[in-house]
Amino acid sequence: MNVVILAAGMGKRMQSALPKVLHPLAGKSLLSHVIDTARTLSPSRLCVVYGHGGDMVPQRLESSDIAFVKQDPQLGTGHAVMQALPHLADDMPTLVLYGDVPLTKVSTLQQLLDIAEGNKLSVLTVNLDNPAGYGRIVREQGSIARIVEQKDATEAERAICEVNTGIMVAPTAKLKQWLATLSNDNAQGEYYLTDIVACAVADEVPVVSAQPEAVWETLGVNSKVQLAELERVHQRNTADAMLEQGVTLADPSRIDVRGTLTYGRDVSIDIGCIFEGTVDLGDNVTIGAHCVIRNARIADGANIKPFCHIEDAIIGAQSVIGPYARLRPGTELAEDVHVGNFVEIKNSQIAAHSKANHLAYIGDATIGSRVNIGAGTITCNYDGVNKHRTVIEDDAFIGSDTQLVAPVRVGKGATLGAGTTLTTNAPEGKLTVSRARQTTIESWKRPAKIKK
Ligand code: UD1
Ligand code: CA
Repeated sequence: MNVVILAAGMGKRMQSALPKVLHPLAGKSLLSHVIDTARTLSPSRLCVVYGHGGDMVPQRLESSDIAFVKQDPQLGTGHAVMQALPHLADDMPTLVLYGDVPLTKVSTLQQLLDIAEGNKLSVLTVNLDNPAGYGRIVREQGSIARIVEQKDATEAERAICEVNTGIMVAPTAKLKQWLATLSNDNAQGEYYLTDIVACAVADEVPVVSAQPEAVWETLGVNSKVQLAELERVHQRNTADAMLEQGVTLADPSRIDVRGTLTYGRDVSIDIGCIFEGTVDLGDNVTIGAHCVIRNARIADGANIKPFCHIEDAIIGAQSVIGPYARLRPGTELAEDVHVGNFVEIKNSQIAAHSKANHLAYIGDATIGSRVNIGAGTITCNYDGVNKHRTVIEDDAFIGSDTQLVAPVRVGKGATLGAGTTLTTNAPEGKLTVSRARQTTIESWKRPAKIKK
């Protein structure tokens, strides 16, 4: 089949410089949602009609399987589809989608395609309590006779509650003929795609209709209010699917997934968490409240306590992270690593059973197994120009308030005394300490206040 996605409208009510279809829903542009849905139907041709916002739409979404066609000026939905015609194969039906209707289910579109049987005109309609603004489906003896736009409708037609969603399937050779006959002699002076319905009836091409399971599948975004409403619908759908799969959610209305979240069994997620990009949670993972997790792999049994920020990181099984930990890109923790409050880790590998439980910065470091990093430890990885690595071997003990001036190495089983500023390698198995020796001045007296 051919797919044409109409995305040229300007979206004035968004009050934004960004073209409407590029606004994100669940971290992905509205148009990308529609394109991804279209792709699951394996179309032979995929054409996007764009207009407003210069060439930002094709630039952002460029892909070898998409033909982008500019519609300028925008003279209506029929005119928009006309721009796509050179890209459509005649011997297969054409599915028309809107770039600002992001949540249509594949099963609904498949049903619409099935009833079209390759040669009928098939329209997705929906019944609304308040149909104002939509094109109305006018039926005669039960069959669709035409679609009349709100602005062209009579009082009686405006009372019709069955409306056009805009999504339809048409036999392509016929579609081309019908579009060639459209006029813009109507209330809006536009070329209406909806006028092809009357053309089909006149041509004795059957017009059939399907309805979606849920109205939100057909809702478009014209304003930030509608964008926020559909974001909630989508997030709730995602949360409900997770519950069905056995994930425990403290509150399914207080989780946001902006990307792909995969998970094992007996995962539990507290409120206010945001998952972005690709995140994978193993079995028995627990995520505390208000964590932001982006592009991460968290292995079985790991416990992420509240208020953690994790990005481009791998967390080993049974690890305990947070509260208030920050794992930055390139963090790789093996199993049973403990990272406590106010610890920041970047571009570092930490082997099994090591701990950094309080207040530390670990950047560009390779840390062995069973290492203990004391509170206040800092890797001085940056000399103002270049970054250098710190290596801490197995079983080392790093005392509190230590600075490791990289490049530097701490040998196996070494101990660094609290307060050490390490500038050369610390040998294995020994205590290294760099602080001044403690003295007590016996003769010292506290100064007395001078009387005036
Ligand atoms: C259209 C339908 C109406 C239907 C409604 C559903 C027509 C004439 N009317 O109304 O029956 O109930 O959708 O929302 O088809 N677009 C272009 N180029 C244009 C005009 C529109 O690409 O010149 C795109 C828009 O970006 C949008 C879609 O077509 O994605 C629909 O346009 P919009 O103006 O929202 O729909 P209406 O004309 O109000
Ligand atoms: Ca319009």
